[in-house]
Amino acid sequence: MLESARGATRQRKGDSLIRIRRLRLTNFRNYAALDLPIETGTTVIEGANGHGKTNLLESIYLMSIGRSPRTSTDREMVRKEALGEYQPHTQIVAEVETAAGDVSLQIDLSARRAAGGAARVSKTFRVNGVARRSAEFVGVLKAVLFAAEDIHLTSGPPSARRRYMDILVSQMGRAYLRDVQEYQKLVTQRNHLLKSVRRRHSAAAELEFWEARMAQRAARIMDARVEAIGALSEAARPIHRELSGSDQPMSLTYSPSAEVGEYEDVRALSRLILGAIQRQREREIAAGFCLIGPHRDDIKVSIGDMDAGAYASRGQARTVTLAMKLGEAQLLADACGEQPVILLDDVVSELDPARGRHVLDRAASYEQTLMTTAEPTMASAFGSRAVNRICVSSGSAAAVRGRADREGQK
Ligand SMILES: Nc1ncnc2c1ncn2[C@@H]1O[C@H](COP(=O)(O)OP(=O)(O)O)[C@@H](O)[C@H]1O
Ligand SMILES: [Mg+2]
Repeated sequence: MLESARGATRQRKGDSLIRIRRLRLTNFRNYAALDLPIETGTTVIEGANGHGKTNLLESIYLMSIGRSPRTSTDREMVRKEALGEYQPHTQIVAEVETAAGDVSLQIDLSARRAAGGAARVSKTFRVNGVARRSAEFVGVLKAVLFAAEDIHLTSGPPSARRRYMDILVSQMGRAYLRDVQEYQKLVTQRNHLLKSVRRRHSAAAELEFWEARMAQRAARIMDARVEAIGALSEAARPIHRELSGSDQPMSLTYSPSAEVGEYEDVRALSRLILGAIQRQREREIAAGFCLIGPHRDDIKVSIGDMDAGAYASRGQARTVTLAMKLGEAQLLADACGEQPVILLDDVVSELDPARGRHVLDRAASYEQTLMTTAEPTMASAFGSRAVNRICVSSGSAAAVRGRADREGQK
């Protein structure tokens, strides 16, 4: 069973590689300065808790999705000790090998002291030294992160699942993130106007202009999400079946906040959304903000006919999220023709041995996998297979030599 999983991933068209060759951190979290070569294959990142293992994966995922998976406050990533400096500066550089050639990805966080208040941090993106917008930066390095706390994805708030979708779909195509960013602006502008109409400072007719533009963007966002979630559901189901040993199939369905029903194409969807928005207008004026649209949509996760969000046990939730993450990796590889880098944070030690093996085997079938653990025996779980080791200790990280990190054992 495990062999067939590996065989399947090997034969995918996503066989052209993406890999990180080197990671350089300056004033990132508890790393003052780090220059770390990263090998192809599986790397186990070891170290006691609180020493910087998760920080390392966070910095890599940041280079993939353009923001931290842990915080929406960029300042938190700036090394605390540096915040006291005159002009604190944080830099993350990843040297990446892609199908299109070698790429250097760089993010700079510059903190400026605001009089009296906390330092304000601005973020800039560079690809091969050239400044880029976030939408052009995101997805060059494709990566999938699975952290132990992700098991709350199914039972947590819809916003967490929307964020999950946005990260997934923005790695699959460039246009998506731009649509989301534009849509967010339109929502903000229409919210202002709705409040203004409520206060009778503006006429309701002014809303029409924003509604038409919102519906267009909303339709593109929804259509991309519906397709991605459908494909993810297909990819995750067989993985879930193997992991759970249950014949209750898992499924993911897109759950829109607007009643739109079936649609032919994006244009038709746009008209349906516009109609739905207009039907909600009175309620929205009363509320003072937009009640329907992609910013309020959700994913419905089911196991058989059970709503997993409401009823799944901890174990079931873990298996479902694991299948979603492993499915995500496969989907990215299939859709983009490039294997993503796999990042597993403290995941394997939380699983029972059989599932742990399954995940290790799947992870090892990708070009590059990095996994953290506080258990010093993790590397030996790979048996005779080649595995690299990096040891993290209070803000420094270095490769551990002299183990099975020779080539040619795969
Ligand atoms: N901005 C920051 N500046 C300095 N240290 C930080 C910053 N953010 C987090 N840390 C430190 O990083 C450590 C946690 O690192 P983490 O990668 O989560 O550890 P683990 O190895 O357990 O995964 C803690 O000691 C925390 O104080
Ligand atoms: Mg950690």
